[in-house]
Amino acid sequence: MNTKMQTLLPLLVLTLCAQSLHAISIPPKFDGFVYGNRPAFDPDAIIIEAFMDPVCPDSRDSWPPLKRALHHYGSRLLLIVHPFPLPYHDNAFVTSRALHIVDKLNASATLSMLELFFEQQEQLYNQPTHNLSRAAVVDQVVKLVVNVVGNSFETSVRSGFNDRKTDLATRVSFKYGCSRGVYGTPFFFVNGFVLPDAGDAIDYKGWRKIIDPLVGVHKHKEENYHFFL
Ligand SMILES: *[C@@H]1O[C@H](CO)[C@@H](O)[C@H](O)[C@H]1NC(C)=O
Ligand SMILES: *[C@@H]1O[C@H](CO)[C@@H](O)[C@H](O)[C@H]1NC(C)=O
Repeated sequence: MNTKMQTLLPLLVLTLCAQSLHAISIPPKFDGFVYGNRPAFDPDAIIIEAFMDPVCPDSRDSWPPLKRALHHYGSRLLLIVHPFPLPYHDNAFVTSRALHIVDKLNASATLSMLELFFEQQEQLYNQPTHNLSRAAVVDQVVKLVVNVVGNSFETSVRSGFNDRKTDLATRVSFKYGCSRGVYGTPFFFVNGFVLPDAGDAIDYKGWRKIIDPLVGVHKHKEENYHFFL
């Protein structure tokens, strides 16, 4: 490769990546799954966006303390979970896709599905599935999904894995994460701002430290706001 090519190559790669980002059309609905039975946009709520990979141990470990914080703050918090399948987890895309399939069948069960994946994720790690065909892995995932949505949905779940729409929805989730600069999981944004230490689980104390000042537990809300500026 000549020197000129070497200089131009990074530019070319950047351009191609940017093009693929623009090539995705805007989805008809905001990506992600809302925790609890709530509208996606409550203007008074503190919005947490969590990018999670169903087969990522750090995502799994971050879930209980986050749930505890949600319980503590109640309606002050709004959680939106975005699936973000990491490329080095072989079964991240299929399990993320399963979340979209469940969401279509029964949106109240989507995050229970995520919880079951967290509980059972070890059977879907790279090593134990190394010798399995894609079809065998999908079979294994369908069994887990049916545990959550019920046996009567088995046919719909299976056809969900052949439905291009669920494939596209999962790609949208991934691309949305990329467009926000996500490069690991779990990755959190609060009111649109990225939290430091992205990619690490945050414990309950950590969440209290982040959210308490925002809800003005100790001081007047406005005062706090200026303090942080
Ligand atoms: C949807 O999921 C919720 C929560 O798991 C469950 O209570 C409800 O019965 C389910 N609805 C149907 C139609 O299966
Ligand atoms: C996968 O198959 C190879 C060759 O048959 C075998 O040596 C290996 O132990 C298998 N790995 C697992 C995780 O089952």
